[in-house]
Amino acid sequence: MDILIIGGTGFIGRRLVHLLHARGHVVTVMDTEPAPTSFADLGERVRTIRGDVGSFTDVMAAMGDARPDRVVNLAYLIGSRHPPRAALHVNVLGMGHCFEAARILGVPHVVYAGSFAANGRQSHHGDRAVTEDDPVHPDDQYSRHKVMNEWQALDYIETHGMRITGIRTSYLTGADKVRGSTHHVRCITEPALGRAVTLPFRDMMQCLMHVDDAAQVFASVVLAEAPRHRIYNCGGLTVSLGELAAAVQRVLPGASIGFEHETGARAANSSFLIDNTRLAREFGVPARSLDGLVRQIIQETQAAAGLPGRPHRR
Ligand SMILES: NC(=O)c1ccc[n+]([C@@H]2O[C@H](COP(=O)([O-])OP(=O)(O)OC[C@H]3O[C@@H](n4cnc5c(N)ncnc54)[C@H](O)[C@@H]3O)[C@@H](O)[C@H]2O)c1
Repeated sequence: MDILIIGGTGFIGRRLVHLLHARGHVVTVMDTEPAPTSFADLGERVRTIRGDVGSFTDVMAAMGDARPDRVVNLAYLIGSRHPPRAALHVNVLGMGHCFEAARILGVPHVVYAGSFAANGRQSHHGDRAVTEDDPVHPDDQYSRHKVMNEWQALDYIETHGMRITGIRTSYLTGADKVRGSTHHVRCITEPALGRAVTLPFRDMMQCLMHVDDAAQVFASVVLAEAPRHRIYNCGGLTVSLGELAAAVQRVLPGASIGFEHETGARAANSSFLIDNTRLAREFGVPARSLDGLVRQIIQETQAAAGLPGRPHRR
């Protein structure tokens, strides 16, 4: 297959490129920052071009050139502190450009990254796992844009009969994460480098997934002919920062991890009980223990810093 990945040099995208290449596909990557990730070692089946998802001309040119069987849109301004017009331009208009260009060029399947952030606070849902059919409760710039993207997709599905699939990704973690939420990353990477770390709340909850596993999920959904649903919860491991710290200390017994507050995060905690049954039944979800996730990130952090480490087990 020919696959166009917009925003493909980022945290998820660079892994997805490798996975799709390994399965024999031809991948075109379009990104405003093509440089951070080099795919030179992958040969001619991966091509990187500079392009802005906020420019319909760029999107049409990339898609018209690649003539893809699949389009994946990962380009986004993550977080909620962006100037409103700039964020709207990339997140909402950019998504619209992907859908419209795919419509014009007859792309059989478009996949985009949604977010668990659409669910809002866990308190909206009580002490139960949130499904894709539950009402959404966006409460900031980022989550409102994510909800808008789902409406945009639905509009193209209903009006034009397109196949568009959203993956409501959870908190993704990995040694190289630099944007979005990073408390859970620093909880592991700072001790891995022998440094003390202080985090805000021991009782802060999150549903965590290793980014490698999320890339596997994306690859499965992207390659599917006809996913049964238009939205999938990614899910993951539900843990508090305190539990994550304990897991780090099991691997690195001397790790110094402190908390400014023991409690206080729960009332405003974003959703952390996520039901991913739909995804698991149709595509499977990579199995991963908390200790395996922690060991992998420690090993990657130490390897990147040139420190001796031990091989990880999942
Ligand atoms: N990482 C997470 O924890 C997480 C969680 C939930 C949802 N998501 C979603 O997954 C998607 C990808 O996330 P990521 O973690 O890989 O982010 P990332 O920031 O690492 O990657 C995004 C990529 O998009 C590119 N980009 C930004 N603006 C662009 C533009 N105007 N045109 C073209 N490219 C542009 C960036 O250069 C970057 O390479 C986003 O939609 C994000 O909201 C991520």
